Formats: sequence, structure tokens, C-alpha cells
Amino acid sequence: MGDQQCCVVVLISGNGNNLQALIDASSNSGYTISHVISNNPDAFGLERAQRCGIASTVLNHRDFGTRCEFDSALQQAIDDQSPDLVVLAGFMRILGPEIVKNFSGRMLNIHPSLLPKYPGINTHQRALDAGDREHGATVHFVTEELDGGPLIAQGRILVNANDTAQELAARVQIREQQLYPTVVSWFASGRLSLQQDQAVLDGAALPRKGLQINS
Ligand code: GRF
Repeated sequence: MGDQQCCVVVLISGNGNNLQALIDASSNSGYTISHVISNNPDAFGLERAQRCGIASTVLNHRDFGTRCEFDSALQQAIDDQSPDLVVLAGFMRILGPEIVKNFSGRMLNIHPSLLPKYPGINTHQRALDAGDREHGATVHFVTEELDGGPLIAQGRILVNANDTAQELAARVQIREQQLYPTVVSWFASGRLSLQQDQAVLDGAALPRKGLQINS
């Protein structure tokens, strides 16, 4: 990214804990969050953005007749900012192939499971139902496959005997808030890229499960 700050647009749908962690870390991590886009007009993350002086746009998916129309409006709203990186932070819409292709290698997602386990929703309950001893969060490049792009990094937690899904979610969120700013700062400093469907850090292909980051 050279001497310039990496310009990041963050897409949200809800509470915005990850957005907040990214904002808090941005001052000394080589990136600037220039804009926040939410598909949910009531997302608390919008208030977080406003409090921090970050402009936002609401694109309510319910106002669009088709997924394609929503995706084109989203594409336009992102392009208006000319970002270096698009960060999905609790963004609960599935994006179509076109928009994903347009941001290939420049779009990240965080998912609350140790991918490839449990793509999709209800990840914490699914980990409990399977009797997993470990659970966590994964940051990956976004590809057309839902929660399926090349993995960059994972943060793990231990599952305790009597954990509920809510308790797991709370501990996974803490991991997410450490993990996401770290990965975004790697991208911002030019250390992280997508090359031939492989996540590459400092010139070396990352392991299939991504780097394991434990605190
Ligand atoms: C996070 O657990 C994230 O992994 C998932 O949705 C949740 C969003 O949380 N994709 P928040 O909006 O960042 O608080």
C-alpha cells in the first residue's frame, strides 16, 4: 500500500462489535475506515460509525426486487468510495457471483466457526451438538462459495462441559475482535494477498486452515 493508508469499507448488518474493534485498532494499524454500509437500517453498528465520525450508507435489501438489483446498488455504493479493501463484519446477506468476482482478493469475511466446519448459521449450537472440544472464528478471503474462500487465520477457544451457545458466542466474539484487526493490518501493510486461490502472507502460502492465533 506504500505510504498511503489502506482505505477500507466495512459492511455490517447488526451490532457491530467487529466494526468497533476495527475502528479502535485503525489508528495504528495502517488502515482507515472510510465508510460503513448496512443492509439493516436498525443496525447498532451504524450508531457506532456515527459516534466515530465515519460516514455510512443504508441499503435495505427489502427495498430491492431481486438479489441482483441489491448487489448492483451495493457495488455502486462501494465503488463510490474506491476502497482498497472491503471487510464483511457480521454482514448477513449472501453476495452474488458478480460482486464477489469484482472484489476478488480485496474482500474479507469473518465467520464464527473453525472453518471448514459449520459454514452458514447457528455455528455455536452446531459445535455443541457435535461435542467439539474446540471452537472459534476464522477470517478468510471471500469467494463464490459461502464461507468457503481461502482461510487466512483462526482464533480458537476451548469448549467447557456446560457451555451454552450464548457463552460460546461471547468467547468467540472476544477472539474475533483480536483476529480481524490483525488480519486487516496485514492486508493494509501489503503483507497479505490472494494468489491463485491461495492466501499468501509475507510471500509464503498460508496453511489450509490459516494461521492459528491464540491470543
Ligand atoms: C460475528 O460473530 C461474525 O463472526 C458473524 O456475525 C457476528 C457479527 O457480530 N459473521 P458483530 O455485528 O460484529 O457484533
